Amino acid sequence: MSKPPLQIHLAAPRGFCAGVDRAIKIVEMALIKWGAPVYVRHEIVHNKFVVDGLRDKGAVFVEELDECPNDRPVIFSAHGVAKVVPAEAERRNMIYVDATCPLVSKVHIEAERHSDNGLQIIMIGHAGHPETIGTMGQLPEGEVLLVETEDDVATVEVRNPDKLAFVTQTTLSVDDTKGIVAALNTRFPNIVGPHKEDICYATTNRQEAVKEVAPKVDAMLVVGAPNSSNSKRLVEVGAKNGCDYSQLVQRAGDIDWRALEGIGTLGITAGASAPEVLVNEVIDAFRERFDVTVDIVETAVERVNFKVPRVLRDVEV
Ligand code: F3S
Repeated sequence: MSKPPLQIHLAAPRGFCAGVDRAIKIVEMALIKWGAPVYVRHEIVHNKFVVDGLRDKGAVFVEELDECPNDRPVIFSAHGVAKVVPAEAERRNMIYVDATCPLVSKVHIEAERHSDNGLQIIMIGHAGHPETIGTMGQLPEGEVLLVETEDDVATVEVRNPDKLAFVTQTTLSVDDTKGIVAALNTRFPNIVGPHKEDICYATTNRQEAVKEVAPKVDAMLVVGAPNSSNSKRLVEVGAKNGCDYSQLVQRAGDIDWRALEGIGTLGITAGASAPEVLVNEVIDAFRERFDVTVDIVETAVERVNFKVPRVLRDVEV
């Protein structure tokens, strides 16, 4: 029986960003430098395939520092950590390597600078996400207030409405955040903020590519983890830009084939923590069921690359 035709529009850029690439390299290099086990506080990036691969090489993933022994190195994940975490590692004389994405560190520095200037900070972010916890944890309790929605802006209680600054999580929806920033500016006309938001280049580019793909397709597939903020935003961006049906899948095995019956066009993208090998696995699964043609919808070319921390630069990979 001949297979039905399927046109896949593959979004570009998609998948790994420079911060994720660097964080994974840091764990691999730490394993070479110090041998196994190397402890990693929190999933180094939100992707099970990546985490399992590193675990096989000798990384031990824990949620908190008190699960690590003093005499083994520990790495902090790409999402960033509150100040108390490295402080505690230092107190215990541990070797630690901070794999916080430099674009997240930039937000930490911004928040501190505003605080030094006497401003209270409003963070736009998702409650409970490790990046939000890390950024809020750069300053003492109460100095950073969290808002998640425009409604939160209406009710947030600040110390002094004329002495405020805002920062954002790096993986938010660009469009939703614009609305929240506008609400902040309306309620607090003197609030200080970044020129744009702190949403990073990778988040922005992946969302732009999805905006281009979504109107062309019957369904979207986002390769990414359910706890990956930027992957979840890609699903939402697809829905807001003309593609009503999306699936967030970690692997080809997660695809709900029944829901995709009868489609003629499909958009595929991947969150910033999803490796390309999983995108290929998904496309191969479609090739088994459909007569697939693939075209790449490229909206930006990325050349960002971050150096690993100095302590690992002597490691040969
Ligand atoms: Fe960094 Fe953005 Fe990736 S903040 S880890 S480059 S999604």
